[in-house]
Amino acid sequence: MPQLRPNRYRTHTCGALRAADVGQEIVLSGWVDANRDMGGVIFIDLRDRTGVTQLVFDPQRSGGVHAEAAKLRGEWVVQAKGKVVARPADRRNTKLETGDVEIEVSELEVLNRSKTPPIEIRDDLTAGDEARLTYRYLDLRRRPMQRVLQTRHKAAMAVRNHLTGEGFTEVETPFLIKWTPGGARPFLVPSRLHPGKFYALAESPQLFKQLLMVAGTDRYYQIVRCFRDEDLRIDRQPEFTQVDIEMSFVEQDDIFASVEGAIAAVWKEVLGIELKLPFERVPFDEAMSRWGNDKPDRRFGLEHVELTEVVKKHDGGGIKIMKAVADSGGIVKGLRLPKQHEMPRAQIDKLETFVKGMGAKGLAWAKIGPDGSWGNAPLAKVIAEGMRKDFNQALGAEEGDLLLFQFGPEAMVHTVMANLRLHLGKKFGLIPEYGSGGKWDFFWVVDPPLFEYDEEHKRWVAAHHAFSMPHRECLADLERGAGDQSHASPLKQVKCYRYDLVLNGYEVAGGSVRIHRREIQRLVFQALGISETEEQEKFGFLLDAFEHGAPPHGGIAMGWDRLVWLLSETESMRDVFAFPKNQKGVDMMNGSPAEVDGALLKDCAVKVDLPEPEKPA
Ligand code: AMO
Repeated sequence: MPQLRPNRYRTHTCGALRAADVGQEIVLSGWVDANRDMGGVIFIDLRDRTGVTQLVFDPQRSGGVHAEAAKLRGEWVVQAKGKVVARPADRRNTKLETGDVEIEVSELEVLNRSKTPPIEIRDDLTAGDEARLTYRYLDLRRRPMQRVLQTRHKAAMAVRNHLTGEGFTEVETPFLIKWTPGGARPFLVPSRLHPGKFYALAESPQLFKQLLMVAGTDRYYQIVRCFRDEDLRIDRQPEFTQVDIEMSFVEQDDIFASVEGAIAAVWKEVLGIELKLPFERVPFDEAMSRWGNDKPDRRFGLEHVELTEVVKKHDGGGIKIMKAVADSGGIVKGLRLPKQHEMPRAQIDKLETFVKGMGAKGLAWAKIGPDGSWGNAPLAKVIAEGMRKDFNQALGAEEGDLLLFQFGPEAMVHTVMANLRLHLGKKFGLIPEYGSGGKWDFFWVVDPPLFEYDEEHKRWVAAHHAFSMPHRECLADLERGAGDQSHASPLKQVKCYRYDLVLNGYEVAGGSVRIHRREIQRLVFQALGISETEEQEKFGFLLDAFEHGAPPHGGIAMGWDRLVWLLSETESMRDVFAFPKNQKGVDMMNGSPAEVDGALLKDCAVKVDLPEPEKPA
């Protein structure tokens, strides 16, 4: 901790004293970390967030203070005055920064007592999640947790300094906003002054930051809380933080350069690491084809291989179901597990159960024997030799390998194969563990499609949202496709300037260049089947603003918690939140969400109408 203003409680922090301070009279305050009575001499470790200093109470020299020290218990808050002395050689502790010295205490004051803490305040983890979240203030008292808070702060300062240096202005935007369709499910806040009306808590500052561009702010950023009532996962909290950015008169490359600069500044400041810039760019289609996923963990192999064209070339190659899939617009993919031909059948069956849980019909496999033969795999009996050879070649199969195949509708095959790859990566220990450090695989996924086909409603819908700028060369397809909702519509080819930044298998940022011209926006709405009246109802004020001189603009938001989580290599993303919710969205410390007083509900004209509890069968 830098510069401390000495006061009655302390002249130094508990991590500050060194051999050079021997002889000084000092005052320390902190928590009792440990106390030991070594045959009369009492040693107390006094802790604060900067470290631990050993206090010594010798009955021969410390008199009454020694008796006081004997009463101290763990986590009591105490203040000690005394002299810094060099530790005798046999008591030096090389593991402690303050390990060369100790304090001969002359005055001791108990500032506060503590109950026996329900979790141990130690650097290593001894408590379960529930206890940690319930007594978060004690969990946070552990130094590794304090270190994460400091990392988060340091990282935020690096971002602020970098963006400020690039001419960005931090502007705050409202949390209480009007709900607009699309996007994440919002949290609703009833309005007391307008009974029957609700605010939504902002899922992001999206509309406001675009309006700031219309306002001429030019370069906006904000480290901002966002609220989304989504199902939670390991990398999702209901309230989380974004470093939100919007820029005027820019193209995709300019936005990338600002984000890369900000992230490089963070890695340099916190870890002292120079990241290699610019980050690689991977087209969306390539990411889907090689990893089945738009946020792949590329730190290990097991890439997918597309085999649809091979199947078409051989007209199914004797495998009727593969032919049917290829003929009906589905895809065929394979994955090679080097030297796994001895995987027992029971284990392959387990993998099959795993993929069936994700909607697969089964899992085809082959074990490569001599001369590229497929051994006793069920497919071996039916596959035509030519297709088998082409499959082997495409996959780079060698004797002793195990091949796994998946075929069916494109989306299903990608999802199943992407999850299978991750599962196998974990199973075979190919994915670097947390804390192993050093491998920072940042890359951009670019040029995704603007639309995706909604099989249920048999129409094209926005793949993300309707405001991302289509590529210039796709405008003709957009125009031609606007009235065509068939599977083969030219809308399929329309790519846009949307992008995600991926780090080690997590999406850590996402954004787009926006549509700023009315006629292009109309075309996109037309393709989505949104009428001019509907468009006005839903997005009226934004579109109106855009008719008052909107500059070309674009932006991005970094998922700050995810980034800090990966940066600090803590096990759970919850660790980078001071006060997180658990996996059910509950704050275990204060019990939210909770029922509220009936009068409050009445004020807001809200009635709670719970569904009948399900009767036991
Ligand atoms: P998007 O919805 O992609 O974009 O969010 C940006 C980034 O925020 C992070 N993120 C989350 N982190 C923790 N918990 C969550 N529940 C959660 N949801 C999202 C992700 C994600 O990449 N307004 C647009 C940005 C833009 O277009 O400029 C937006 O919010 O890391």
